[in-house]
Amino acid sequence: MDQIVIQGGHALRGEVRTSGAKNSALPILASTILGGGEYVLTNMPRVVDVLTMGKLLGMLGVAVSHDGNRTVVQAHGITSTEAPYDLVRTMRASVLVLGPLVARWGEATVSLPGGCAIGSRPVNFHLAGLEKLGAKVEIEHGYIKATARRLKGARIYFDTPSVTGTENLMMAAVLADGTTVLENAAKEPEISDLAEFLNKRGARIAGAGTDMVTIEGVTALHGADHDVIPDRIEAGTYLVAGAITRGEVTVEACRPGHMEALLVKLRESGVELLEEKERIRLKAPGRLKGTNVRTCPHPGFPTDMQAQFVALMAVAEGTSVVTETIFESRFMHVEELRRMGADIRVEGNRVVVTGKERLTGAPVMASDLRASAGLILAGLAAEGTTEVSRVYHLDRGYERLEEKLQALGGRIERRKGK
Ligand code: EPZ
Repeated sequence: MDQIVIQGGHALRGEVRTSGAKNSALPILASTILGGGEYVLTNMPRVVDVLTMGKLLGMLGVAVSHDGNRTVVQAHGITSTEAPYDLVRTMRASVLVLGPLVARWGEATVSLPGGCAIGSRPVNFHLAGLEKLGAKVEIEHGYIKATARRLKGARIYFDTPSVTGTENLMMAAVLADGTTVLENAAKEPEISDLAEFLNKRGARIAGAGTDMVTIEGVTALHGADHDVIPDRIEAGTYLVAGAITRGEVTVEACRPGHMEALLVKLRESGVELLEEKERIRLKAPGRLKGTNVRTCPHPGFPTDMQAQFVALMAVAEGTSVVTETIFESRFMHVEELRRMGADIRVEGNRVVVTGKERLTGAPVMASDLRASAGLILAGLAAEGTTEVSRVYHLDRGYERLEEKLQALGGRIERRKGK
């Protein structure tokens, strides 16, 4: 297995370009099952999860070809309605094919995703919503079996906002008979991006990006091209890389408006930020000060930036409290940061971080995508050498991370596994 090796203690300087958003590319690819011909998708991130979704669509009979950050999808028909366990267990977002399959082809057999390192992550909202739309849903042998002649519009209320839950049911409702209203829906920018793509293809979605989304069902969609939005989590990760190394970094091709909660917290910790339309300049001249953070659904502080921010607070002055409200076990990075000398106490769903002047490099292990990003950032700030193993987690959601960090002056390299 590959490892990433970092010589820490060097301030990052320069420009870095943001790739397209993984969490937008995945539902956009899944939505091509709703049919309609050919799609040219640009600014697609070259990450493992996008390749996995392409493979899944291929298994269903949808042709997907990638050329750099451009993906062409031919969705003229399908040959299967089954998403197998072996693939779904490698990527939970595979559940996003459920809504489109039932809506367009009247049936779907999708493996239940199962548990995950960061939490139990059930899909009960997705299933209850499909039943509200008139589908018959059963669980058999670890698979969701859903059937429907034609879905029927309905009012669906989410107990708590769910990103892929909102996306799955929004896609299903596009071809339903009548009007669907999603209440207490998630408001993440990736949901608005998906709705924009669907509306270009003839869907009638209003209110995406708010907690009330209304979908007027239509009978068919046509093809369209789309440029995927920038990845706000990747952009945020590079901003924290600049801050944790006390450097000066400009993140290009990003959308500051999608990252306000993070920018507020970075400023609170003492970072200087200059926001332009699609660029953020960061300056972190000295040692930062601790600040408290609470993860929340968008537009609150994103849980996908929590691990990176805990790493930053580990070298800030004073004490910070970071509270995780979305996933019940998303502190796997804490033990590894402690191995690097961090002073962090876990108390239920929050951590109390007492900042240290310096961390020391150590061999550490990644447990999930964002935890691995947090460990890389800690390694960039630490004295000496850090070796991060199980970096396959990282490749799922970051395009060419070590190359981009090298371009900013980071002493980082990938060591190929045997
Ligand atoms: C999406 O996951 C993202 N994944 C996650 O990013 C992100 O962490 C998460 O939203 C929260 O922002 C993709 O977009 C592919 P949720 P999702 O449904 O949709 C509970 C990354 O690092 N819930 O919004 O699976 C759930 O357990 C990944 O890129 C139910 O109880 O998250 C959680 O506590 C990690 N029942 C809360 O809701 C349901 O049916 C929010 O989860 C659905 C969710």
